Amino acid sequence: MELNTNGIIGQSTTLAGVFKMLVKVAPTDSTVLVTGESGTGKELLVRALHANSNRANKPFVPINCGAIPKELLESELFGHEKGAFTHAIRSRAGRYELADGGTIFLDEIGEMDLSLQVKILRVLQEKEIERVGGSGVKKVDVRIVAATNRDLENEVKAGHFREDLYYRLNVIPLHLPPLRERGGDVILLARHFLNKFCEKKGREPLDLAPKTVRILQAYAWPGNVRELENFMERLSILTDGDVVNPSDLPDKILNQVADLDDEAEVAFEEAAQQLAAPTASAAQTSQPRQGFVWPDLADLEKLGLSLKDFLDTVETRIIDQALEKASGAKNLAAEYLGMKRTTFIEKLKKRHQ
Ligand SMILES: Nc1ncnc2c1ncn2[C@@H]1O[C@H](COP(=O)(O)OP(=O)(O)OP(=O)(O)O)[C@@H](O)[C@H]1O
Ligand SMILES: [Mg+2]
Repeated sequence: MELNTNGIIGQSTTLAGVFKMLVKVAPTDSTVLVTGESGTGKELLVRALHANSNRANKPFVPINCGAIPKELLESELFGHEKGAFTHAIRSRAGRYELADGGTIFLDEIGEMDLSLQVKILRVLQEKEIERVGGSGVKKVDVRIVAATNRDLENEVKAGHFREDLYYRLNVIPLHLPPLRERGGDVILLARHFLNKFCEKKGREPLDLAPKTVRILQAYAWPGNVRELENFMERLSILTDGDVVNPSDLPDKILNQVADLDDEAEVAFEEAAQQLAAPTASAAQTSQPRQGFVWPDLADLEKLGLSLKDFLDTVETRIIDQALEKASGAKNLAAEYLGMKRTTFIEKLKKRHQ
């Protein structure tokens, strides 16, 4: 089956695992429980699940159990009959009925009251609902997908969540890893959002300086993708020039990364040297290198760089070597690189911007 990722961006192996599950689970009618820290993209994933299901042409009805006052949640879910309570001046269908044939998304299910949990369990078992103040039941064909950023197992232990409902919901668990565990996805997403916001604001696309890339990669992103998205919007407004430099980053990020930074800097330099320095030391010592090894994905991951930053780093290093070998003569350096002098000078200019 061809997966429609529905705008979910990421190439990390952790996310690939989620997509793999999604392909298998989407076309079934199984109940799915999506877990993950706040801002990891749970809602986006649930929408993708629906879009890839056989119910894609039927309604997708989200309901945020944490945002609706608990006295109203039951009638919101199941509807009510006229006169069921003081303000019930007319009968009204609930979200379950609206979702018939499609998917209902019970977001922040961990916030749901115990008494209502019983009723959800009943719907799961009987596949029928009863409006508040109603006297009969109605069959519904609704797929239930729930999400939470709480640890429901702990909630069960603490007596805040019904164990039976937990097992019933957790038929297929889908866990979205936090952004800090998604390696190069941080930069992939950063660039995506940055381009998006720059375009929206009608400005030239902003580039990330290599050091900015390393800082963004090292930051822990407690608010995950949402934090990154908001943050890129801010940069698209506040950054002068066309490159985001570390000085453009807010203290919140710089402070957290500061301690890490020295260590990261050393590790980065070491790894980069291992990768590219054989050439450098060869130039310095005139010792021929032993064989040639193509850099591979593992090298990217070791450095925590995206492909673009990796290639930029390699390019910078080789340009430096050419300049060194040519004792600074740009014509000659360009020749060593098999490049037109004008192109070479353009490249040098870009670097110093
Ligand atoms: N992998 C991704 N690719 C592109 N955009 C993403 C990705 N993950 C999340 N987003 C975007 O980040 C924002 C937060 O995502 P979403 O609302 O799905 O998170 P959530 O896990 O439901 O958060 P919360 O627990 O706070 O409700 C949204 O604007 C969403 O479009
Ligand atoms: Mg959400």
